[in-house]
Amino acid sequence: MQATAPAKIILFGEHAVVYGKPAIAVPVSSLRATASIQNNPLGKQGLEIVAPDINLRLLMMDIGEQVFDDAIRRTVQLALNYFQEAPPNVTITLHSTIPIASGLGSGAAISTALARAIGIALSRPIEDDQLNEIVYEVEKLHHGTPSGIDNTVIVYERPVYFVRNQPIQPLSIGHDFSLLIGDTGQGALTRIAVSDVRKLYDKDSAGTRIVLDAIEAIVLQARKVIESGSPMDLGVLMNQNHTLLQQLTVSSPKLDKLVQVALQAGAAGAKLSGGGRGGNMIALVTPNSAAQVRNSLLQAGAVRVFETVVK
Ligand code: PMV
Repeated sequence: MQATAPAKIILFGEHAVVYGKPAIAVPVSSLRATASIQNNPLGKQGLEIVAPDINLRLLMMDIGEQVFDDAIRRTVQLALNYFQEAPPNVTITLHSTIPIASGLGSGAAISTALARAIGIALSRPIEDDQLNEIVYEVEKLHHGTPSGIDNTVIVYERPVYFVRNQPIQPLSIGHDFSLLIGDTGQGALTRIAVSDVRKLYDKDSAGTRIVLDAIEAIVLQARKVIESGSPMDLGVLMNQNHTLLQQLTVSSPKLDKLVQVALQAGAAGAKLSGGGRGGNMIALVTPNSAAQVRNSLLQAGAVRVFETVVK
């Protein structure tokens, strides 16, 4: 038996979402975290968690009183507390095809798959609303004060128009569109980028608010464009959103380079995606431009390029 969860990308509104502005994110279903469950052999007690990709093997006999500060044990603890159960006697093996620390939500996807697997092992499947709360709690370990957009899009695995502390609003995609995701290969801590934007805000609230309001206006337009089914009009909005993220100081020379190269190679728009300073950028492509943009990104130093269809 298996449980899985997808990667995600933020299309518009990252960082501003922390300040109560809306943002748009979509799942990337081709990249996934998987948690496989095997019953323990007779006599073997406890919940064993194995993650060969990161050389991790741990055994949990009980969840104790202490609050775990690593994401795996914290996920187990929150899930078992929710069910009011002891650890099941199973082995859960974790795998993921989602690059780590690159703004694709690998941590949230692993927590989601793991908590789902625990529910399956206990024959008590977990509802998405509760799962979302659990994964949000775990996200706090990595991100400090996350907006909640990552766990939401990953748990529900659907495009979302997201406003912090508000019920999720599904987003209908009027017409499919393709994005390339270009990985700078530079790991970056979202927490640091978020805290630097906070410093900027504290130093110059009026100026920063102008930028955040401009991002909000872009997100509102992007929502209309996506729902109305004319996705190629998103290109110019992506470029504008990238410029505003530069003003928030969360771009980087490599992100700027990949964005510029993608546009030169024929992308209809491009921007950084997620926390920034490294991690990934996205480029809006058509069947005609995709190969050229992909090659140019790789030549310019992208370590990986994924294609995803938003639908
Ligand atoms: O997890 P990342 O790197 O995709 O970024 C999360 C998006 C931010 O808006 C930068 C932070 C947040 O909590 O929403």
